[in-house]
Amino acid sequence: MPREIITVQLGQCGNQMGSVYWQRLCAEHGINKEGILEEWATEGGDRKDVFFYQADDEHYIPRAILVDLEPRVINNILSSPYANLYNPENIFVSEDGGGAGNNWAQGYASGERLYEEVMEMVDREAEGSDSLEGFMLMHSIAGGTGSGFGSFMLERLNDKFPKKLIQTYSVFPNAQEGDVVVQPYNAMLTLKRLTNHADSVVVLDNGALARISADRLHVQTPTFDQTNQLVSTVMAASTQTLRYPGYMNNDLVGIIASLIPTPRCHFLMTSYTPFTSDQIDKAKPIRRTTVLDVMRRLLQPKNRMVSTVPSDVDPTDVHQSLLRIRERQLANFIPWGPASIQVALTRKSPYVPTNHRVSGLMLANHTSIASLFKRMIDQFDRLRKRNAFTEQYKKEKMFENGLEEFDDARATAEELLKEYKACESPDYITYGSPDADHAS
Ligand code: GTP
Repeated sequence: MPREIITVQLGQCGNQMGSVYWQRLCAEHGINKEGILEEWATEGGDRKDVFFYQADDEHYIPRAILVDLEPRVINNILSSPYANLYNPENIFVSEDGGGAGNNWAQGYASGERLYEEVMEMVDREAEGSDSLEGFMLMHSIAGGTGSGFGSFMLERLNDKFPKKLIQTYSVFPNAQEGDVVVQPYNAMLTLKRLTNHADSVVVLDNGALARISADRLHVQTPTFDQTNQLVSTVMAASTQTLRYPGYMNNDLVGIIASLIPTPRCHFLMTSYTPFTSDQIDKAKPIRRTTVLDVMRRLLQPKNRMVSTVPSDVDPTDVHQSLLRIRERQLANFIPWGPASIQVALTRKSPYVPTNHRVSGLMLANHTSIASLFKRMIDQFDRLRKRNAFTEQYKKEKMFENGLEEFDDARATAEELLKEYKACESPDYITYGSPDADHAS
């Protein structure tokens, strides 16, 4: 039985990354731009129905809901060769069309206002699934729509489907060159929802993506299209075990359960290697891809952004590579649980030719992510101290009577930061219990 996943893509970033992701899934499953299975795509063995369903006329249609408050990006999708791929009933563009003005409060208020229309789409998709496993939300946390509307959707989805998993692919803004001045507010308000209402958050940092583009692709100022190729490669790899089932991680819960031992610490880092020219325009050639090379590269900070390797890999090779990683202490592990790296071998699409033998994706739950939250808190404090740009927020009902919600979101981030720090100590197991002493 398929464990279906419904994707909700919100705002400019969410829809742009979603669009590249769906193009990639189509290529991997031999589905053409119109949603028709290519005649030569006869190998089978893949599970298209996790992410697509078949219409009466045999079209494959993504289980995707596209939401935006301004029409530009969705119009681009609808004038692209993939225009007929999506179910037009699953596309929502706000009638007033002005976007959320990079304002979380405006995005959130639009969510409240437009909830019923969007939820009707979600309900229809949920009813059309045999055994819905959960939702994937794609968005940026810096603007207005993906962050504010996205936050509202997270709260509601969690409320309405308490037993379903919610995984997000969340683009965090580039700390060096923020293009939205109020992004520290928007990001903080969203982080609270990601902490409280998502089961797992795949953190995609625009800063790291820019660095990888510079290192790997020699592109100093990448376009969104280029960054989204990196993002979609990672997203496709992270769902590969769901789409090409093998003996491990055939459903989302399998991946999440092994990566997330305690519920709040669910922010995952990713690395992928190698990026090659068959996935990314302009990628540098890679010379060797042995299992150990790939696994070692995955652990290198410069590649950070589940581990999948093709089936022609010998499992003993993987085992020996793991032993070497432990012996040479190439990674640090939590002191209160088993030192664990799980490797899932998976088949890859027979339809997308690659010029390398082994590729790998790492999904890591690592306490060093706390530094990202620390940076977000510092940036938020700088803006908040000056009470800068708060007027636009106060225009919305939620903030009419004050900005307590800002401070509450900050407190949630502070707690999260503390918990990640506590994870590094051997007595973390008692964290949060009444008699534990965590004075730090
Ligand atoms: P409004 O524009 O206020 O309606 O909200 P929105 O959610 O549509 O905003 P947007 O998605 O543009 O969010 C802005 C943030 O997302 C900035 O940090 C951008 O750098 C980033 N961003 C926008 N588009 C993309 C994209 O296609 N890929 C990536 N990686 N980042 C993007």
